[in-house]
Order: sequence, then C-alpha cells, then structure tokens
Amino acid sequence: MLGSTRETDKAMTTAKDQRERSSATPGVRLVVAMPALNESATIQDVIRRIPESLPGVDSITVVVVDDGSSDSTADLARQVGAHVISHAYRQGVGAAFQTALRYAISERADLLATLDSDGQFNPEDLAELIEPVASGDADFSTASRFKDPALVPDMPGVKKWGNRQMSRLISRLAGQRFYDVSCGMRCYNREAMLSLNLLGKFTYTQEVFINLAFKHMRIAEIPLKIRGEREFGKSRVANSISRYAINTSKIIWSSYRDFKPWRFFGWISAIVLTPALVIGFFLTWHYFGDVSRPADQIPELVGTYEAENGLKVTVPRYSIKPYQWMVPIAVALGVLSVLLFYAGMFGDMLVRHRIYLEELLVHARDNATGEKATSTGASPLSPGVLKAPTHDASGKRTKFLVFGAPVIEEEDVAEVVDSLRSGWIGTGPKVARFEDNFRQYKGGEAHAIAVNSCTSALHLSILCLDLEPGDEVITSAMTFCATVNAILHAGATPVLADVDPRTMNIDPASVESRITDRTRAILPVHFAGMPCDMDAIEAIAKRHNLRIVEDCAHAVETEFKGRRAGTMGDFGCFSFYATKNVTTAEGGMVLSRNEDDAKRVKRLSLHGLSQDAWKRYSDTGYRHYFVNELGFKCNMTDLQASIGIHQLARVDTNWLSRQHVWDRYQNDLADLPIALPAQPEGDMRHGLHLFPVLIDESRTGVSRDSFLEQLQARQIGAGVHYLSVSEHPFYQSLGWNPSDCPEALRIGRQTLSLPLSAGMDDRDIDDVVAAVRSIISDNA
Ligand SMILES: Cc1ncc(COP(=O)(O)O)c(C=O)c1O
Repeated sequence: MLGSTRETDKAMTTAKDQRERSSATPGVRLVVAMPALNESATIQDVIRRIPESLPGVDSITVVVVDDGSSDSTADLARQVGAHVISHAYRQGVGAAFQTALRYAISERADLLATLDSDGQFNPEDLAELIEPVASGDADFSTASRFKDPALVPDMPGVKKWGNRQMSRLISRLAGQRFYDVSCGMRCYNREAMLSLNLLGKFTYTQEVFINLAFKHMRIAEIPLKIRGEREFGKSRVANSISRYAINTSKIIWSSYRDFKPWRFFGWISAIVLTPALVIGFFLTWHYFGDVSRPADQIPELVGTYEAENGLKVTVPRYSIKPYQWMVPIAVALGVLSVLLFYAGMFGDMLVRHRIYLEELLVHARDNATGEKATSTGASPLSPGVLKAPTHDASGKRTKFLVFGAPVIEEEDVAEVVDSLRSGWIGTGPKVARFEDNFRQYKGGEAHAIAVNSCTSALHLSILCLDLEPGDEVITSAMTFCATVNAILHAGATPVLADVDPRTMNIDPASVESRITDRTRAILPVHFAGMPCDMDAIEAIAKRHNLRIVEDCAHAVETEFKGRRAGTMGDFGCFSFYATKNVTTAEGGMVLSRNEDDAKRVKRLSLHGLSQDAWKRYSDTGYRHYFVNELGFKCNMTDLQASIGIHQLARVDTNWLSRQHVWDRYQNDLADLPIALPAQPEGDMRHGLHLFPVLIDESRTGVSRDSFLEQLQARQIGAGVHYLSVSEHPFYQSLGWNPSDCPEALRIGRQTLSLPLSAGMDDRDIDDVVAAVRSIISDNA
C-alpha cells in the first residue's frame, strides 16, 4: 500500500504519539477540509455524509474553504454545522487548500483530510483513507482512481490520458511509482502538514506530491471507487484542458526546479550543449578533413595567382567561409550551457538555504500553534501574531485590552514594505487591485472607488446626488457624527429619524414620518453590522422617489436577505478606520451601481481631475490632465491599499473569530440585567463590528459612565457608540432637539460597546465576562 518506506524512526510516529507530545490537545483531532466554489447543489449532502466518528480519531471538525462563491455555498455549509472560511474573492483551489492547511495547523489538528465539495468522493471512504496515516504507517495518503484497474472511473478519454501522463511525469521526477497524483481526497499527518511549503494557487495536488516525495515522506495510495466527473456543473480546475495543462506544468516544473536545480538546469544545459557540440564537431571535421571541401580549400589550389590583366587572386589555406555563421552559434550555445550549469549551482545554493528556512518554518509553526493551544483553547481562528504577556503569574490581567484592536499580520507589513521599496507610495496599482478585490467581494456588479475615509465616501456620494441647498437627507439619530457632517458638507440638510429599540437601526416608520416635499434621499446606517430593514426603506424610497446612500462603516460583511451591504442603495460607503473590521489605518470605499456616478466619485476624490490623472507620473509617460470640476483631495494611497488587500483576504476568517467572541458574550452574559445586542434573523448576516450592551442604571445599580470607568480599572477597554447625534452641542446650535428621537436618546445614554476583535482569544473573553459580572455584583 505504501509508495515508499522511510528508514528513520519517524515510522514509529503515529498520530497518537503526536497527541501525547501536545498535552494541551486531548485526543486525535481530524480536520476535514473541503475547498468549495459555487457548490450549493452538493455541499450539504457531502457534509452530512461525513461519518460522525472514525477509527483512531477522537474529534472531527468539518471546515469549508469557500473560494469566493457567489451562490449560497457558505450559508448552506454553515446550516449543516461546518465552519466556513470564505476567501474574499476567487483565488484558486491551491489557495483554498493553503487556507485549509493554515487552519488545521493553527488548530493543532493531528490529521487533515481533504474532500472535494462536488460530490465526486464518497465521504464514507474517509475511514479507509485515513487508516494508514492514523495508524502511523504513512505520513500522507491519497485516494487513487487508477491504481486498481477494476476501480478506474468513467471519465472522458482525454482526461484519463492526462491524469496518467501527469502521474508518470511526477513518478519520474520523484523517482517513485505513483498512479494518481491529482486526486483531491487525501489525508496528511501533522508532520506532513508542517513540512508542506506550497506556492501554486491554481492547484496543489501535484505540488504536494513533489514536496512530500522529495522530503521522503511516506506516501500511501488507496484504491477507491470514485465518480470520475462532478455531479453538477464543470470542474473549475479542469474545465479547459489546455489551461489546466499549462498551469499545472508551470507548478510542477517550478517545484521540480526548486527541489532539484542540478538536474533541472543540467538537463537544459545538456540540451543546449548538444547542438553546440554537433556544430563544433562538424566544423572541426570540415576544417581538418578533405572530403567535400569547397574548391577554394583544396590544398592544390591554395596560393596567390596573378591573372592576365594583372589582378591578384588569393585562395586561402583553410577557409570555412560557407559555414562562418555556425561559429558564433556554437560559441553562443556553449556559453549558454555554461551559464545554465552555473544557474544549477546557484540554484543548489538556494535550495540549501530554502531547506534551512523550511526547518525554521516548521519549528516556528509548531511553536506558534503550541503557544496558542495552551493559552486560548478553542477559538476557531485567531491571528498568527505572537502576543506579549497579558497576565501576571497569579493570573491577573496586566495588559490593557484595547477596544477594537486591529489584527495586523506579517503579510500586511510585507506588502507595505514592498510598496515603500517600489517607490510608488501614492495612488497606484495597489489601490486599483484593492478596489477590484473589494468589488469582487461585493458580488462583482458594483463599481468600487477607494478613498481616504468613509467620511469622504459619504461626502462625495451625496455630492453626486446633485442636491440643492435646503434639500433634505434623512438619516439615523444613532450614528457617528461623520454621517451627518457629510450631509452638511454636501450643502444639504440632515433630518434625523429615530431608531428601532431592538436593532438600534433607523426605524422605517420614523423615516416615513420625517418625509417632506424637500426630502431627496435616505441614508441608513447598518449600525454595529446589523443590516437595516432594506425592504421597508426601499419601499419608502420608491414611493417618494428618493435616492439611497448606505452608510456601511460597520458593515463590510453584512448581508440582508442574500444582498450585500453597500450594493442595495445607489451608493454604499465603507470605512477602513483603525478599529474597523477591515482596516487600512484610515481609508474608505464607495460602491456605486452606476458607472457614471463611479467616475464622478473618482474625479471628485482627486481635485476634479480627468480620469487616470494619478498615472501622470508613471512610466507610461507624462500625461496631461484637466480639471473638469471642483474636486477634493480624498484619494487612497498604495500604502493604505497594501494593508487593505490582505485585510480583505482575511475578512471572513476574522469574522469567524469575532463570531466566536460574539457567541460567547451572548451565552455568558445572558443571565445578567443588561440588554444584549439583537441577534440577526435567518437570512441576514451580521457584520459583527460592535457588541453594544445597554446599562440601565435602574436595573444594574450603576450608570453607564461609571460602568465604563470600572471596566477600564479592570484593564478592559470599551467604547460608546454613540450618543444620540443631537446630544452634541454643535447640532443643538442648529436647533435640533434630542427628545425628537427618544429611543436614540435613551440608547445613547445607556449604550456601551464591549471589546470585539478578531485578535481576542478565550482568555480575553473570560476577562471581559468576569469584569462585567464583577461590576454588576459589586454594584448590586
Ligand atoms: C457609522 C459611521 N459612519 C461613518 C464613519 C466615518 O468613518 P471614517 O472614520 O472612515 O471617516 C464612522 C466611523 O467610525 C462610522 O462609525
């Protein structure tokens, strides 16, 4: 059954041994990971058929890596109990596997099994698949469609042929016989997981083989009966055979080059050297030989002759004139082959360096996850940054828990450094990439324009409504001052509507009651990440012919009945401020349904200059630009976008981490006399940006402000989101009266937001819960 046998005592290492080494992890933990892209037809069935228990395994976690699906794959998977990690946009099945791998490593899984979500594999076969790995006989096992001739599935001939050729190629490169190197149903032990170092995003299957075979891992091929084709739709990897062949070859040959540079460059060098030698031989033979020499080289004719007219003619002794072009070619090929030979040597040096770095990587990964497992317990996903100590030896919290701390990873830092080094630090290609990624995350239909803040996003969007002085925009009384300021800066009049006491979102009935003949737009705020009742708001807008601008500062991930926040109104405005779910330190984004509006926002964000003015100093040559209208200076820079690109790629992973915090607060604080935030209903997705609780002094015996101070004294940071807008003196100077919006007034005086960040671990949550409980009991 095994593809190769290793002679080291690693053969004795079983998953159980590994578990025993990690005292913090009880039992053998299997993560079953399923890469998925638009698999709504099959995903639930596949998940349901995964066995609840498997021999040699103590716990099973199913995780679906949703590679940017535009259908309901993620929701369906969640409904049947899977963890879902969603890529913000489609990155490829190789990237999805890498996400699954990171998840399994960070969760200290002992085994990782992968299954396609398209129903090709029978999940009940998992027992047979994992057996050699769980028992310690192999480091890696893969289902094999071609090992047993009786089990070869029905598939188009060309696919079968392609699979076989691929297996032959990998077998040849790796020096071991494999029958099926492209199957997605596999199992890895922890050692195999830690040693994988994959670069290919398009696919991963063959690269895994090369990685593991060259690292002398023990590989088992298990013949299994597998459906040869997807049940529904087309394979995204193999739907174009030529594209598949090109992309896969690139991945295979580059990993072969990295592992075996001597052989790789040696072969190319030999191929180049051969014609050089042939030409050289031919020339030598021709130079010294006497057969088929042209007349001018026949020795008898050599010499200088004088013709009758006095002209002298010389016949040289060894002329190779007719073949002179061969000389530079032979020399060039010879030089090239020597260079390739040196490339091999240089590559070899890099390989040694790589091996050294990989050793460090394995230790770093193992140590990092070890620390996490002992300190945090079961948070579904936490950032990989190592933290400074937060508690003293007695377990008392010593480090202040910063409210809304951003989660910054090394990749964010590296991307910023890359921009700094590139010298292009203003608005440039990374802003364009961030805009495109954001657009795709939001379903790909709206236009996205990056700006320097949500305040600017709102301001420019409202300007595009072309309002006249005195025109009114109705917005929520429970919002940050930026929302109303943007309306004022755009020359319009804000009108505050009261909020729904349960959701704290703008109350459609209150909106309706504020409509006058000057009303032009509604500006709902998806407060804390909870979607507003967009059905009701759209109905009002339609009835009164009003435009809608959504304030999505809290709502990157928010969805209302399957529609993504920011795509329902005419404009959607997002914030990437430091405490937001996706941060660029400061930054914002406008989504617009209409292309002309999008162009106008872009123009207004850069002085009103003509399109692409930011390229005026690029290497494509200087371009003249023209000022087309009075604009502002609100463009985003590549430095900011560098952070945003990676923040966005992790948006759903971070959301999952916050969901864990949210769920724990909802459970652990449920019995206290404080009001907890409303839970989203069935077909809504909450952005989980804030966790606002209400401190009613008549029930808790302590005022909100005193509660805040007592939390701070216990090293817990909290926020107030928000005082009702008209409580602020400036707005009262405009004649606004807080009691016009009584619910917002009450909430604003009672509300307090507990820390909610993807960077929090279970110990942080325990501290918050304990602090809240002790304040309530101390004041009872
Ligand atoms: C609801 C709301 N709207 C707008 C903004 C303004 O965002 P920015 O700081 O990116 O300008 C914020 C900021 O916190 C906000 O909470």
